Parts: sequence; C-alpha cells; structure tokens
Amino acid sequence: MASARTATQGMSLDDVDLTDHARFADAVPHEMFRLLRDQDPVHWQDEREGRGFWAVTRHADITAVHKDWRTFSSERGGSSLQDLDPEAVVARKSMLDMDPPPHNKLRAIVNRDFTPRAVRVFEERIRSLIVTILERALAQGEVEFVREVSAELPMRVFAEMLGAPESDHRHLVELGDRMLGQDDPEYRLDPEVMRANSHLPFSNPAAADMFEYGRGLAAERRRCPREDIVTKLVEAEIDGCPLSEQEFDVYFLLLAVAGNETTRHSISHGLLALIDHPEQAERMRTDPDLSRSAADEILRWATPVHHFRRTATCDVELGGKQIREDDKIATWFISGNFDDREFSDPMRFDVGRDPNPQMTFGPGGPHFCTGAHLARLEIQVVFEELLKRVRSFELTGPVERLQSNAFNGIKRMPVRLEAA
Ligand code: HEM
Repeated sequence: MASARTATQGMSLDDVDLTDHARFADAVPHEMFRLLRDQDPVHWQDEREGRGFWAVTRHADITAVHKDWRTFSSERGGSSLQDLDPEAVVARKSMLDMDPPPHNKLRAIVNRDFTPRAVRVFEERIRSLIVTILERALAQGEVEFVREVSAELPMRVFAEMLGAPESDHRHLVELGDRMLGQDDPEYRLDPEVMRANSHLPFSNPAAADMFEYGRGLAAERRRCPREDIVTKLVEAEIDGCPLSEQEFDVYFLLLAVAGNETTRHSISHGLLALIDHPEQAERMRTDPDLSRSAADEILRWATPVHHFRRTATCDVELGGKQIREDDKIATWFISGNFDDREFSDPMRFDVGRDPNPQMTFGPGGPHFCTGAHLARLEIQVVFEELLKRVRSFELTGPVERLQSNAFNGIKRMPVRLEAA
C-alpha cells in the first residue's frame, strides 16, 4: 500500500525551516514534522521578516493551545503569522481575530445556519450541483480537475447559501479565485498594486469587489428580507447596535473566503489520494456506507490549512518550553493530523479509519470552523457521486502544488476520467 508522499528523509533539527515556502513545494515535509514531534515538539523558529515564533507540532499541545483562549489569544496580533501593523489588524479584524466574549456574539449570528441539520437542507441542491459539474467533466474525459471540478463547487455552494442568482455564480467563482493564498509566486500580487492599495484594509483589489458584491446583496435584503445568511447579517444587532458597514464587509468576506480555497484543495487531495490508493477507492465502491469516514480521512490527509497563529497573553510553560508574553505561536494542524500518539499508522490512508480525531477544522475551542459540517458534506457527496459515475481515474500529467507553508494546495491536476 502506498504511503503519503514525503519530501525529506534523514534530516536533523538544524535543517528545519518552517518559513521556507519552497520546502512545501514538492510535498508536505512530513519527515520534518515527525522530527519536530519526536525531538522538539515546541520548537523556536526564527523568521527572516518577523520576530520568530514557537512551532507547536503535537496533537495534544495544539489542542491545549486552541482551547485555552485566555492564555493563547487570537485577538492580540491576529490569527496569521504575518506581523501586520496595528491599524491594519483593526481594519480587517473578523471574528477569526477576536477573543470571547465579543467573538461569540459575532459568531452566533450565523452559527445556526451551519449546524448539521441546517446544512442537510442543502444536501439535495449540493448533490445536483455536483452531478452537473461531474457530468460536464466526464463528457470531456480528460480534464484539469482543479479548474473543472474542485474549484467550481465551493463558491457555487456559497452562492446557493447566499441565495445569489444562478447568473452570479461564475462571477463569484472568479472572485474567489482572485482571493487565493498569495505565498505562491504565481498568485502573488504585483507590488505596484499592493502599494497603491496599502491605505485600504485589504491590499488585494478582489476584496473590494467582494465587498461591493456583498453590499449589493445587503441592500436587496434590507428591501426584501429572506431566510438567508445575508438577511441575518443585515438584521443582526450586537449589544443593541447593527453591524457597521465595515463589520458587514469583513464578515461577508470571511464567509466567502474561508470555505473556498480550503474545500477546493480537499477535493483535489481526495481524488489524488484515491488515485494513489486504488484499493481504498474499491473499498468505497463496495461499501458506500464508508463515505462519511472516508470524508474525514480525506480531510485529515488533505489538511488544507497547515497552521494558525495565537499570541501568548502571559508567560507560560508549554511542552517544557518557557513562552513569554507576546510570543507568537503557530499550531501546525498538518503535523497534529499525522501524530502517531493519536493516530495508529498515520501515514496510511484508510477510508474506514475509526477513531479519526482529525484537526483539519481546528482542534476545538472557540474558533472551531463554522463551516465544518458543510465542508464535510460537500466532500462526502462529491466522492459518493464520483465513484458512482467514474469507473477509473488516472493522472495524465504532473500535479502542480501551491508553494506555501500556509496552505496544502493543488493548483493543477490533469486527470483522465472514464465513465462507469
Ligand atoms: C475543508 C474546508 C475547510 C477547512 C479545512 C477549514 C478550516 C478552518 C480552520 C482551521 C479554522 C480555524 C480553527 C481554529 O482556529 O480553531 C476555520 C475557521 C473558520 N471557518 Fe473554516 N474551513 C473549511 C471550510 C469552511 C466553510 C465551507 C466555511 C463556511 C462558509 C468556513 C467558515 C469558517 C469561519 C467563519 C471560521 C472562523 C470561525 C471563528 O473564528 O469562530 N470554513 N476553518
């Protein structure tokens, strides 16, 4: 049985560099993370353009950090490793970059739209979107799977949840594409554009377009309320006050962006895992009841978000290391998901894995992914429908990975799909 693709073998702690995007170009550096978990699970990492950070790599330590939000804050310094200037942090602050109790009040606005029961309402619509997307791809036979399948679904589902008209779906998919992670040289914005937009809360011009789209929907829902997320946002009150325009913008943007790239990469990694492990695809075909555990295993295997950041609010000991107040901490889900202290034989892809305490949506705590049930459902249904319709699939060219230490992404993946 093939194991996970590993990038580095036989390395020492001196070779570790978690800031080097190129180390993530060919594959996830699983060997580097294994070394850290075994020998230095709370590891100090210097940065070229920053003050350095603690890298937390064991499942149990990552969980402890995320659950103790008083000691490990999302508000102080935000949730990304980049050190933004304080004004930018305030201007772009979403609930992701807040601590309770204000965080909980914002989160409560949409929380009930993402419960398992609420997202089940979308199941039939999601299924029919997927069938349309897959049948179009199957008719072509050879496709660039990311563009034709993985990238299409998440924004179309988001559009459905917004109640956006069908005619806007393509526009939303394109906007989502323009908001993709910027570590990879291919997606990096022109420095001129970044400079010209440096006075704005987000330097990517696609953010302004997304705000404009969201404001248009908000205006419509104010005139004519519906049972949807945008109506909830325009009618919401926090401590008796409606959301400001900026709060609405940032909320809308978070919802639009959070599930886009992440779900896309999960779908691509899922297909790649089944190509690499044909016996697991066969298991799923013969036992369709495995589709739910398979979705969780695909999510573990994919771990599209490598890490998040917290900042210490006081001096504290973690994994035997003395953390100082204001130190940055990166929690590496991509490492926790392959920790053999939690998972038996973690480098084995096993669609029936049980238990599977994957931390792809975070390990719990106040910021646990709002969209987890929705994303899991999308992945489950994609592979149910794909395995029903597609007899065989194979790569027809190289898989092009995103060069990023933040996202486990696939940019392009040419495949041949043969109908069942
Ligand atoms: C496979 C797909 C997805 C992955 C891997 C993913 C991953 C994550 C992670 C790691 C977090 C932070 C957890 C933490 O800090 O403890 C998060 C938060 C969040 N996610 Fe997702 N996500 C996915 C899909 C979605 C979808 C479909 C939506 C819905 C629109 C969504 C909305 C959010 C929001 C709003 C937050 C912020 C929650 C908060 O701060 O309280 N995500 N996600």
